Amino acid sequence: MSYQASFRVWRGDTDGGDLRDYTVEVNEGEVVLDIVHRLQATQAPDLAVRWNCKAGKCGSCSAEVNGRPRLMCMTRMSTFAPDETVTITPMRAFPVIRDLVTDVSFNYAKAREIQSFTPPPDLGPGEYRMAQQDVERSQEFRKCIECFLCQNTCHVVRDHEENKPAFAGPRFLMRIAELEMHPLDVADRRDVAQTEHGLGLCNITKCCTEVCPEGIHITDNALIPMKERVADRRYDPLVWLGNKLFRR
Ligand code: SF4
Ligand code: F3S
Ligand code: FES
Repeated sequence: MSYQASFRVWRGDTDGGDLRDYTVEVNEGEVVLDIVHRLQATQAPDLAVRWNCKAGKCGSCSAEVNGRPRLMCMTRMSTFAPDETVTITPMRAFPVIRDLVTDVSFNYAKAREIQSFTPPPDLGPGEYRMAQQDVERSQEFRKCIECFLCQNTCHVVRDHEENKPAFAGPRFLMRIAELEMHPLDVADRRDVAQTEHGLGLCNITKCCTEVCPEGIHITDNALIPMKERVADRRYDPLVWLGNKLFRR
């Protein structure tokens, strides 16, 4: 079944912009990204949109659909009533480049600030061993497709540009937690998580977890355990040392 649907799409650039109305054909089984492509093909050839895989795996097509952060390629048109106006806007937490494309370099800068995996210096190639339960603990975090929807949603930075320098955001606090939980990583990540990456600014509202297209339990499995580890250490550094040496 085909129908004509109403869309409002934000058009503009670094100098500003506004919402424009379009009527576009929708066919059965289509997703929001299909409609954006049809809009480009038929009415707005200069509409800027970033996408790549159309399969929910590259993390490129992040935007806000009716105010909710989503992957456009994974948002079915059947989610909306045929007479509902669907509004598509760029991610709000990042500067607009043009139309639906934002500058997400904040995230790459945050990624670079994290000390990389640091195995013990005396461990040679082929000597890396870890228990299955340690593998499983952090495996969930490796499903991240770097769509940055969680970064865009977190209220700490969403409307507070001034917090950005002090806050890595959920995706990168999760990366720190992943490395902290890695039994072969010997870097001390707890103090820096708090002092340099802003772990304390997270008040576990879980909005990041709600929008994650990979269903990663960012708050429960990464941020809260990381907060617990930081608290343990602040409470008693000897307990922390014992945990590090004997219980991991
Ligand atoms: Fe996207 Fe989830 Fe990764 Fe955040 S943790 S960047 S929401 S896949
Ligand atoms: Fe932000 Fe997620 Fe914490 S939304 S406040 S990082 S739980
Ligand atoms: Fe790759 Fe949507 S186009 S995740």
